Amino acid sequence: MQKNISKILENETFSKTDIINLLKADENERQLIFKKAHEIKEKHVGLKTYYRGLVEFSNICYKNCFYCGIRAANKNIVRYDIDDKEILEAVEFAYKNKYASVVFQSGERDDDEFIERIENLLKKSKQITNNEIGITISLGEQTYETYKKWFDAGAHRYLLRIETSNKDLFYKIHPKNEKHNFEKRLKALKDIKKAGYQTGTGVMIGLPFQTIENLADDLLFFKENDIDMIGMGPFIEHTETPLYQYRKNLLPLNERFILSLKMIAILRIMMKDINIAAATALQAIDALGREKALKVGANIIMPNITPTQNRTNYQLYENKPCIDEGADDCTSCLEARIVIGGDELGYNEWGDSPHFSNRKKA
Ligand code: 5AD
Ligand code: SF4
Ligand code: FES
Repeated sequence: MQKNISKILENETFSKTDIINLLKADENERQLIFKKAHEIKEKHVGLKTYYRGLVEFSNICYKNCFYCGIRAANKNIVRYDIDDKEILEAVEFAYKNKYASVVFQSGERDDDEFIERIENLLKKSKQITNNEIGITISLGEQTYETYKKWFDAGAHRYLLRIETSNKDLFYKIHPKNEKHNFEKRLKALKDIKKAGYQTGTGVMIGLPFQTIENLADDLLFFKENDIDMIGMGPFIEHTETPLYQYRKNLLPLNERFILSLKMIAILRIMMKDINIAAATALQAIDALGREKALKVGANIIMPNITPTQNRTNYQLYENKPCIDEGADDCTSCLEARIVIGGDELGYNEWGDSPHFSNRKKA
């Protein structure tokens, strides 16, 4: 079987069957995949990790995704919405600590007040950082006009996870209604690209009802859609959500973790010049989860710089790390971890996806 895996790894492109075999690799075989992914990372994007300071500025959300702890129907959490002033302080913190980029993330809303507020926040973030801070936003499904407006205000990367590329599975993990619609989500991803953003998406790994075939299709979906950045991590059940009832059918946590590392490694081999994030959810399973992801192809880490008093209330899943740490703590903690892991830190560099500039040139 070992031979098979090394044979597959010699292929220029992977078929769906190849990917399935790679995803099924045993403990010895997967080391070959990890090694190859690390080599490709070094050759195509360098042994460098870039920071994106993550501000989870509000957990107010009008959606009801079946997996998520901050879904609208969960009445057991305190909702918060951080003042712009505090958000801008976090931006300053990132800038001063040479993070070069921030990510604004929140629950989903699409009211005019919200749209305008974000536009101002983007402009101000640029203003207070000498126009230098790179801004990624992760604010869900919006109209093309809104995406364009926010792009013009200064955001240049957008994250919108498709969550799964399989339509049937999509409706097992979301209600089926106007706010949760697979085609709409696909269209949003296309609109993001059209508006000019470096486009990021991703999936959860180890969802109830998800098969290895689904995951292979997810990787092919990223490739077909010529995506610039990927963030994907293990699904972690949350008590206050509908999917919690299926917890007995899930893969054990350590297997979800290994499967996530395999997904990252295979993707790095398939899409050599994209940015791949080491998802925080990896660290909810393994204390060194994100560092392990950097070893097998990931090159982006999103340290949480949300003001600490709000962190407990942004629990999309349980056991989320760094709930009690402040931004300073995470910064020094992460730096040590990354350098020990053998990567250099891309301080003061945007670290844009080379795939994006290559795509624009083509
Ligand atoms: N486990 C893992 N990831 C989750 N997300 C939401 N809920 C969970 C969960 N229970 C992820 C989704 C979403 C991102 C912001 O967080 O993929 O897009
Ligand atoms: Fe809202 Fe995002 Fe959670 Fe869905 S995953 S309920 S859109 S915060
Ligand atoms: Fe937050 Fe280590 S990364 S404390």
